[in-house]
Amino acid sequence: MKIAVITGASSGLGGEISSIIADKKDIDEIWLVARRRDRLELLASKLSVKSRIITADLTERSCIDDYASLLASEKPDVKYLVNAAGAGKIGDYSEISSEDNDMMIDLNCRAAVDMTVATLPYMNKGSHIMEVCSTAAFQPFQYLSVYAASKAFLYRYSRALRVELFNRRISVTTVCPYWISDTEFIPVARKTGSSTGSKRVRHFVLSAHKRSVARMAVTDMCLGFAVSTPGPVCFVHRIVAKFIPHEIMMGLWALIRRI
Ligand SMILES: NC(=O)c1ccc[n+]([C@@H]2O[C@H](COP(=O)([O-])OP(=O)(O)OC[C@H]3O[C@@H](n4cnc5c(N)ncnc54)[C@H](OP(=O)(O)O)[C@@H]3O)[C@@H](O)[C@H]2O)c1
Repeated sequence: MKIAVITGASSGLGGEISSIIADKKDIDEIWLVARRRDRLELLASKLSVKSRIITADLTERSCIDDYASLLASEKPDVKYLVNAAGAGKIGDYSEISSEDNDMMIDLNCRAAVDMTVATLPYMNKGSHIMEVCSTAAFQPFQYLSVYAASKAFLYRYSRALRVELFNRRISVTTVCPYWISDTEFIPVARKTGSSTGSKRVRHFVLSAHKRSVARMAVTDMCLGFAVSTPGPVCFVHRIVAKFIPHEIMMGLWALIRRI
């Protein structure tokens, strides 16, 4: 049985990517992973392929173990693994709680690695992994410090894993979008329990839309690209951040976040 596994499918980018992959018609089943069952059921009812709903809080190790057990019993051929589940919080070191810091590290780093490692025994030549990272991986960002660092971790992990998987002919694509305005990410990131924290980034100028980001990301994954920058802002950011020192980039961010 050929399947796709998509985490973060209950909302935003993960939901869009699920629809695009389902429409490709090269899998028998799609496994949708997130915490909100009702949202996954709604998505499943609209997809053009059979779905399996997996309600899981990926910050809980036991949920990853349950997923690994399911793989062991079903023994599927995983053609696509998309790790889109992720979350961020905006604020300085005192405005974001330790619980939220731990949540970002657990979800954006540990869960992505654990899901990938658990799935790899069930992937074969020609299959694809997408790790949804962020343009925040390209430099440090004050007031998004833990989030940006967590995405830098995932970026480095994914780039190295890609090389380890060359011999197995499994591609790993690291997707690095800029702000996306029509997902739940920004409202969730602004909710920190601190009124000042949420205002550290005033406007999310030049934000992209989930549909176009998802389309570009899936195309780049299927082409086997190492890095996908789905949109002009993240494309330019990736190049500029290679040549300009981080101190200057953080100075530019200090201006942009006040616009
Ligand atoms: N939107 C942006 O501006 C932006 C920019 C760059 C990168 N990204 C990245 O893009 C990815 C998708 O974000 P999005 O914009 O689509 O945001 P979103 O609409 O908030 O979607 C996040 C998804 O992650 C799932 N999730 C959150 N916590 C989870 C947990 N503990 N266990 C399992 N699933 C969990 C959510 O589902 P449940 O709540 O149902 O569990 C939801 O499906 C993230 O990795 C994010 O870092 C977003």
